[in-house]
Amino acid sequence: MTLVAGVDTSTQACKVVVRDAATGALVREGRATHPDGTEVAPRHWEAALRSAVEAAGGLDDVEAVAVGGQQHGMVCLDADGEVVRDALLWNDTRSAGAATALIDELGDGDEARGRRAWADAVGVVPVASFTGAKLRWLADAEPEHADATAAVCLPHDWLTWRLAGAPGLEALVTDRGDASGTAYFSAATGGYREDLLALAFRDRTPRLPRVAAPAEAVGAVDPAWGAARGAVLGPGTGDNAAAALGLAAREGDVVVSLGTSGVVGAVSETAVHDPTGIVAGFADATGRHLPLVVTLNAAQVLDATARLLGVDHGELARLALAAPSGAGGLVLVPYLGGERTPDRPLATGALHGLTQRTMTPEHLARAAVEGLLCGLADGIEALVAQGVEVRRVLLTGGGARSEAVQRIAPAVFGRTVLVPAPGEYVADGAARQAAWVLSGAEAPPEWSLAEARVVEADAAADGAAVRARYAQVRDLTDGV
Ligand code: XUL
Repeated sequence: MTLVAGVDTSTQACKVVVRDAATGALVREGRATHPDGTEVAPRHWEAALRSAVEAAGGLDDVEAVAVGGQQHGMVCLDADGEVVRDALLWNDTRSAGAATALIDELGDGDEARGRRAWADAVGVVPVASFTGAKLRWLADAEPEHADATAAVCLPHDWLTWRLAGAPGLEALVTDRGDASGTAYFSAATGGYREDLLALAFRDRTPRLPRVAAPAEAVGAVDPAWGAARGAVLGPGTGDNAAAALGLAAREGDVVVSLGTSGVVGAVSETAVHDPTGIVAGFADATGRHLPLVVTLNAAQVLDATARLLGVDHGELARLALAAPSGAGGLVLVPYLGGERTPDRPLATGALHGLTQRTMTPEHLARAAVEGLLCGLADGIEALVAQGVEVRRVLLTGGGARSEAVQRIAPAVFGRTVLVPAPGEYVADGAARQAAWVLSGAEAPPEWSLAEARVVEADAAADGAAVRARYAQVRDLTDGV
């Protein structure tokens, strides 16, 4: 049996799956946690990868490896390849002002013109998450670190490079999928926009990783990682592109993931240039596109509500399903951690419609689930507005395990909802890429993936009414 390994270096943990390259069957897996925080020393990712590889039985018999990882994180390296400062992660919002400044600058002071110019150039409008905005923040807040930066890369690029034995900055490699989240790479043309990098980094142009083709062999795993056969390295990709590959998402499928972030994304043949910035025009891992909407408030909304009510997730779901559709007019706007879509980094959450009747655990639980789903439904409609075809929804991520989320989602989304068996889809997508690289074939291998289950909707849920009420409340507080 030929074995391949896929890695997911995510915000919270590192996961490794070892799969049969021919069938995709899971052979072994391992996991290790990452430290908390929105700023992390990359050496922790490497240490976690070592532990996860060990827990997964090592790489000795593995023929190819690829890494999927959290997008956007800024990893700055000096001329010797040492990390200049801790990496700022996608969910670090200190670069919000920098993002606004970049929009204004490209539009010569006209915000609308700036948004249009960014969307036309790179398919995204800067928000705090993107690497370009983080570089601007670094240039202004820590110019000595900016000056010391000889190369900038992303978490998955860095870990792939470390797996190769860190062979010099010129060996840094990325892929279209992850590069498209920097705001200085165009998914439409497949090239970097060095001018926009220079704009963001105040005239500094550090080395950027080479952008490899989707199934290119980019090197070999260093023997120090225990890969006795010198396993081939794939280019890897960003986590959302890897998940789409792991789920074998087709055109017409929209993947809604409820994890640390809420993600609504779809594989598409055409590039998206949304000047509102709501839909980010990312690339996927197969040479196509991955228009995507990200919210900062997803599974934590359920966690926070369960904590407030002093219940576990099973009980939270039971409470939510015991309340009427629409929670009697109680609406929870879930911007608990600021929000990225809509772009309100300083927003706070809001609870609207409290009455003697609605101030109950059941109503609050329902409002939390509905508010969370309404934020994601706005994302689905934003994709549709960009011409993306949405036939069915694949609901994934930790938050998707909630029975209330599953049963209320079809009404709020207005579409058939399928729940794939819980799995490590990012690591699986990376493994599928590794098998593809090894095969040298035109297309990724057809793996027989676990069947997705069509969820049984809550028949009493009135999605249109819930969304209309949410829309009335959503913009009442701007959260500043
Ligand atoms: C996508 C995004 C997140 C991260 C972390 O734009 O910021 O989904 O990739 O998972």
